[in-house]
Amino acid sequence: MGYKVAVAGATGNVGREMLNILAERGFPADEVVALASRRSQGTEVSYGEQTLKVKVLDSYDFSDTDICLMSAGGSVSKEWSPKIGKQGCVVIDNSSAWRYDADVPLIVPEVNADAIVGFAKKNIIANPNCSTAQLVVALKPLHDRAKIRRVVVSTYQSVSGAGKEAMDELFTQTRAIFVSDPVEAKKFPKRIAFNVIPHIDVFLDDGFTKEEWKMVAETKKILDPKIKLVATCVRVPVFISHSEAVNIEFESELTADEAREILREAPGCLVVDKREPGGYVTPHEAAGEDATYISRIREDPTVEYGLVMWVVSDNLRKGAALNAVQIAEVLVNRKLIQPKRQAA
Ligand SMILES: NC(=O)c1ccc[n+]([C@@H]2O[C@H](COP(=O)([O-])OP(=O)(O)OC[C@H]3O[C@@H](n4cnc5c(N)ncnc54)[C@H](OP(=O)(O)O)[C@@H]3O)[C@@H](O)[C@H]2O)c1
Repeated sequence: MGYKVAVAGATGNVGREMLNILAERGFPADEVVALASRRSQGTEVSYGEQTLKVKVLDSYDFSDTDICLMSAGGSVSKEWSPKIGKQGCVVIDNSSAWRYDADVPLIVPEVNADAIVGFAKKNIIANPNCSTAQLVVALKPLHDRAKIRRVVVSTYQSVSGAGKEAMDELFTQTRAIFVSDPVEAKKFPKRIAFNVIPHIDVFLDDGFTKEEWKMVAETKKILDPKIKLVATCVRVPVFISHSEAVNIEFESELTADEAREILREAPGCLVVDKREPGGYVTPHEAAGEDATYISRIREDPTVEYGLVMWVVSDNLRKGAALNAVQIAEVLVNRKLIQPKRQAA
């Protein structure tokens, strides 16, 4: 007998991708349940060949469900994840609600799968921010070789990172500009079509944004608290996939050739790095793919031991849904949970 899995937020960008990925990877689920708000009750979503009718999260009983993949936003997760966890169902949450809780593991399976121990304290496991997930996948193998001291990262984040309404806003604004209609900004603070916005999430007292702070705090929790990191997070008019320009300073020498070899062998990474026009990956090509792509690897001549590189990944997949399903696979493959209905 297999597992019973609920996807909460199943009508959203991340939730729909979770259903696709569960089916694509043949996750050992006997039953998958799609949950969302009352607004979506009865609407249909696809899970492989099957069509699931959406049920309402508020009135769902989790007592015979093994895993809940949660992507319904921070406030929903704050309210519901502890209640679901108490019913013996492990929540793998995509919001930032639990990431910094000492009793909640924050996991990127290629990087720190062993940190999953202790998940049973709250029965909640957190997924990192999309920009952090792809960054740590690329940093980890280099850190293992030459110890990273400091990282400077600038992100180029797609609108799907802000949900389905944000994708609609880019589409609507782009169309409005072509037909000379007035352009309305609702979801973003300024026009996003044919523009870039150096502001994601709220501003903090020190002038950084919360998105930038998340990258610092999460890299420390997942990879190494000693790594110093500074980020500038920018929204760009791309539908899917985040890109990052990453400067890394190491404690010892690591050449670009060595880094390329290490990353070629690293789990979750794909190196595409030809020094010619088009010999690198752009967000358009990464959309719908699982890998974290690394291109433009070169030595930084301004520091003693430094590299610069370009990192691109599908934010809805490695940045969210794929990572969550990989965490569920860790639970299953390491036999950390058993299907409740088998135990009964
Ligand atoms: N997009 C990314 O790249 C990314 C990456 C990492 C993490 N995340 C996180 O994942 C979460 C979802 O993001 P998204 O991009 O999928 O957003 P989205 O496209 O706006 O979808 C939100 C989902 O949450 C559901 N929902 C909202 N309020 C609810 C409630 N009260 N009860 C039950 N379900 C409710 C919505 O259902 P209805 O259709 O019924 O409204 C919808 O299914 C957020 O926490 C986000 O921060 C996103």
